[in-house]
Amino acid sequence: GMDLQVVPIHKHPQYKEQCCNLINDEWKRSTTARMRSLDSSCDNLPTNLILLKENKVIGHCKLSVIPSMRNACFVESVVIDKLLRGNGYGKYLMITAEEYCRNILKLEVIYLSTKGQELFYSKLGYNVCPPVSIYGGSFSSESVLQCEKIENVTNPT
Ligand code: ACO
Repeated sequence: GMDLQVVPIHKHPQYKEQCCNLINDEWKRSTTARMRSLDSSCDNLPTNLILLKENKVIGHCKLSVIPSMRNACFVESVVIDKLLRGNGYGKYLMITAEEYCRNILKLEVIYLSTKGQELFYSKLGYNVCPPVSIYGGSFSSESVLQCEKIENVTNPT
């Protein structure tokens, strides 16, 4: 009943500017670079998912390719509007993004790395794992917590 929707940005390009502002409010980067990154969202990976509440962008996450792992993705740039944190929206975004990975992209494992949000991800069922090779060769940093979530088969309802 909260009127929440998680959709890929490339299907709803009218939200690109709002999305850009939301991400840049947390991690400052040039608008041009940010927009270019959002422009690469597609039906396969990479995919930028946005969380909409009453037609406003209140959250974002990016699903990136891991070249060496066809059944997995790397989740990055997870962010909820600063004024709306602590209300369960981040949890809703991640759970819905996981469903998208499983049901639409047919992926089985989600990797991410975090320094600072360990509790948020452990509550969602992510476990610590060794660093994974992303971006064709370079490993995700070992100074941060590497997490993985292996999808279970869920009951169809
Ligand atoms: N420390 C401890 N617990 C936390 C934290 C935190 N920083 N953030 C959330 N939680 C807990 C909540 O208490 C809640 O627990 P509960 O289910 O027992 O009630 C649960 O995690 C879910 O919390 P939400 O309210 O859904 O989290 P929120 O909407 O605030 O979103 C997020 C969390 C996305 C991390 C948000 O705080 C944010 O945008 N932070 C700034 C950007 C950031 O750090 N993003 C993560 C980068 S890592 C990555 O992208 C892979």
